[in-house]
Amino acid sequence: MTSYLLPDEAATLALGAKLGRSLKTGDCVALRGDLGAGKTSLVRGLVQAQLGEVDVPSPTYTLVQSYDLPTYELWHCDLYRLDRPEDAHELGLMDAMLDAVCILEWPDKLGDLLPDTVLDISIQFDGEGRIATLTGWDGRNV
Ligand SMILES: Nc1ncnc2c1ncn2[C@@H]1O[C@H](COP(=O)(O)OP(=O)(O)OP(=O)(O)O)[C@@H](O)[C@H]1O
Ligand SMILES: [Mg+2]
Repeated sequence: MTSYLLPDEAATLALGAKLGRSLKTGDCVALRGDLGAGKTSLVRGLVQAQLGEVDVPSPTYTLVQSYDLPTYELWHCDLYRLDRPEDAHELGLMDAMLDAVCILEWPDKLGDLLPDTVLDISIQFDGEGRIATLTGWDGRNV
């Protein structure tokens, strides 16, 4: 378990950029934190570090936003509005977990379909800033 102090949004973007370099196809990241914690900001930092100033919207209504990054396809999912875990099949998410890198906001919406071997990131409020705690990333260069 490793914690990172994120005093401002720039620090969240930078952590996202760094994490993006250690991910590979087949990885699934559970990205946890309350509303407005900075989950989407972290993904924005990851994507923009690799693609430049592209738009990285929150997939609140679409549930999924995918990106062709240089070394992997990224699925950024916001599962807040997923009604039932089984709907993940229709969404193509279960296949994407094998063929892409999946980063899941509100991962517990998947219930038993959430893989056992997720890389966990939990973002907590800390005064004006945030603290990110990484679990399950041992052996990764982050
Ligand atoms: N380390 C930080 N310190 C202070 N503010 C931050 C930090 N990181 C991100 N923010 C700000 O917090 C807000 C986070 O919004 P964001 O949409 O990323 O949250 P979220 O966790 O994805 O929320 P939701 O659960 O609604 O999807 C943004 O306004 C962003 O600028
Ligand atoms: Mg979000």
